[in-house]
Parts: sequence; C-alpha cells; structure tokens
Amino acid sequence: MTAGAGQARTVAVLGVGRFGALHARVWREAGARLVGFGDVDTARLATVAERFAVPEVDTDPRRLLDRVGPDAVVVASDEASHVELTLLALQTGCHVFVEKPLALSGTDAWRVHDAAARAGRQVVAGQISRFAPPYARIREGISAGRVGRLCALRLRRDFSRSWFLSFGERVHPVWESCVHDIDLAVWFVGRPVRRVVAMQSGAAGNAAAGVVAALLEFDDGVIATVESAWLVPDSAPQTVSGALELAGSIVGEGEVLGLDGVLRQRLVNDALVEWTREGVRVPDLSLWPEEDGMVGGALRREVDYALAVFSGKRPHDVVPLQQVCWGVQAAEAVVVSLATGKPVDVPEPASTAGMGRLR
Ligand SMILES: NC(=O)c1ccc[n+]([C@@H]2O[C@H](COP(=O)([O-])OP(=O)(O)OC[C@H]3O[C@@H](n4cnc5c(N)ncnc54)[C@H](O)[C@@H]3O)[C@@H](O)[C@H]2O)c1
Repeated sequence: MTAGAGQARTVAVLGVGRFGALHARVWREAGARLVGFGDVDTARLATVAERFAVPEVDTDPRRLLDRVGPDAVVVASDEASHVELTLLALQTGCHVFVEKPLALSGTDAWRVHDAAARAGRQVVAGQISRFAPPYARIREGISAGRVGRLCALRLRRDFSRSWFLSFGERVHPVWESCVHDIDLAVWFVGRPVRRVVAMQSGAAGNAAAGVVAALLEFDDGVIATVESAWLVPDSAPQTVSGALELAGSIVGEGEVLGLDGVLRQRLVNDALVEWTREGVRVPDLSLWPEEDGMVGGALRREVDYALAVFSGKRPHDVVPLQQVCWGVQAAEAVVVSLATGKPVDVPEPASTAGMGRLR
C-alpha cells in the first residue's frame, strides 16, 4: 500500500485514546498532516503528541482549533462528547470525521445533521463496517437483486468480557456494539426503522446490559434481529491485536434473507490461525490489519473516503448522514425499550428540532 495520493489536508484529532491514536496514524499514512491534538487527559495528550511529534496540544478544544485552524477534525473522544465537539468543529468551519456513535439520541443526531448542512461542511460518521469487504459485498448483493426481495436480517456481534469489565459501563453497551449492526441493518434496508422491542440480561455481572437482543421492524416490513453479548472469554481466539492498543475479540455474524437467496458472513474465520506463545489468534484482516507497515483494511478505506468527501472528490454516498441519524434513532429506541421492557415506536425521521419524542 502507498500513502494516499489525495490532497493532503490538515487535521486535528480530539480524543487521542486507543482509537484516536490509531486514527492519527491512519490519517497521517493517508496523506493528511496532523496539526494538533486535544484531550482532557494531559498525560495521555503529552504521550501521544510526542509519539507523533505534534507540537500543538490543548485540553480546551476551542482554543486548539482557533490556534491551528485545521481543514478537518477527527473526533475520537468518549461517546458523550461527540456531539459537542462535532458542533464546535463545524462552527469553526471544519469538516468532521466523528467516531461512532454520532450521538446518543436521535434529537442530537439530527442537530448535527442540520448544523453540517447550515455550515456547508461534511460530517462523516465512523460506521467502519460499511468499509469492510464482506459487508460491502452483502450490500452490493442486495442492490444487485441477488437475494430478491429482502425479508429478514440477523446480525450478531459479541465482544470480550474483559472489555465489558474495563469500559463496558462508560456508555450503554448498545452504543458500543449494537450500533454497528443497527447501522448495517439501516444500510442494507435503506429505510428507517419503525418499531423496536428489546430485552437485556445483567448476567454479565454488572448493572449495565452485557447481553442485548433487539428486534427491529423497518417501515417496509423487513425484520432485523440485532444481538450482542460481551461474554467472549480470554481463552477464545483473539481477533483484535496489532495496530490497536487493545487485546480481545470481536465475534460477528450476519445473515441476509430474501425471497431468492441468502447471504451469510462470519467475522471470525479460519483463513489465518496463529497458535503461538501469545495464545491462539485469528487476526481480523478486514478492520485494521497492518500491511507493509501501514494500517489497511476498512479503517484505511474509511479515512480515504472521508478525505475524498472533504475535498469534494466524491459524493458522500457510502455513509450518508441521514442514514446514520436513522440508526441513532433506532439505537435510542432500543435503549428505551430495554429500560421500559416495552415496544417503542421510532418517531418519524426529522431534520428539524420539532422531531417527535419516543413513545
Ligand atoms: N469504529 C470502531 O470499530 C471503534 C473501535 C474502538 C473505538 N471506537 C470509538 O472511538 C471512540 C474512542 O474510543 P477508545 O476506545 O479510543 O476510548 P479511550 O478511552 O481509549 O479514549 C478516549 C479518549 O477521549 C478522551 N476524552 C474524553 N472526553 C473528552 C473530551 N470531552 N474532549 C477530548 N477528549 C476527551 C479521553 O481522555 C481518552 O483519552 C469511542 O467513541 C468508541 O466508540 C470505535
């Protein structure tokens, strides 16, 4: 792989934790110039700034953006700060790449959508799975009519139990794991979700839901199941290692069922298995594998996409913000259903503040 030939852009990264630091690497490898880092953790900020030789750092994001005036901002901070930092970056005239979840409520997601339109700037939400080849091929297969009329989706994503114990309660686990599959479901169906019912189990040992099962009904009648359990033991094959400062496993499965065919995907497969002193590894080769000393896979494709969208070189058609807002609305409905134990009607999608409330 070679460094991106595209126009180099200046980029500031807000939130330089595990994934923010990986983003910094990938944006630089893709041809962007890193001009500033922001984080509320001064020790982490200093460590990552030194690693990337980025001189401009600040714990105050507004001060940082005013000082360095980047073309684009990468928001990779804690989930609860995504909306505030994205709106700030838009106000200062920047394009924004914001990690998932875009927002923790439908209302906030549409606020970002509207603010981007008003500012005339692009917001790319980090729904990385849309850039992973198996999912992209499923999407193409649906568009090409290979399964005929779409009837049902089954999507499942399990995470390491050790992750749950370390950061599983930072935000409702739905926003960490299910949000990927809810977004994939919206992408595959291309329609908003109408109704949701979900159940959870606290069996993973914490007050938060380590086990979630949700049923989504789309407005054209397609049904999707989205399941997640943060119960993968350390003894399971390790899939996430290498480029990301986090060891563990993501075990995902998906099925798309139509009148004329079925498409099936497994995130863990045995194409490459390593049995070494470090244990058993089945390195994921689709999300952020290292290839020739650079990070490739879906993450690099996602960053190349964002750079091309920001430069006006391609349409923003892989992760349109409207669809991401539909996904956030559905994820919020799942969280409400989990809390109340009742089905939830998802309000009509709206791009204005007058959006209806969840019932
Ligand atoms: N797309 C994916 O597959 C994927 C994978 C991992 C993480 N993520 C997302 O990336 C984001 C970061 O996750 P992580 O694993 O790196 O977490 P992390 O805890 O390692 O890093 C978060 C960083 O944000 C900083 N931070 C918190 N509040 C802030 C604020 N208001 N302003 C600036 N910095 C702030 C923290 O100090 C920390 O350094 C999350 O939204 C997560 O969901 C996405």
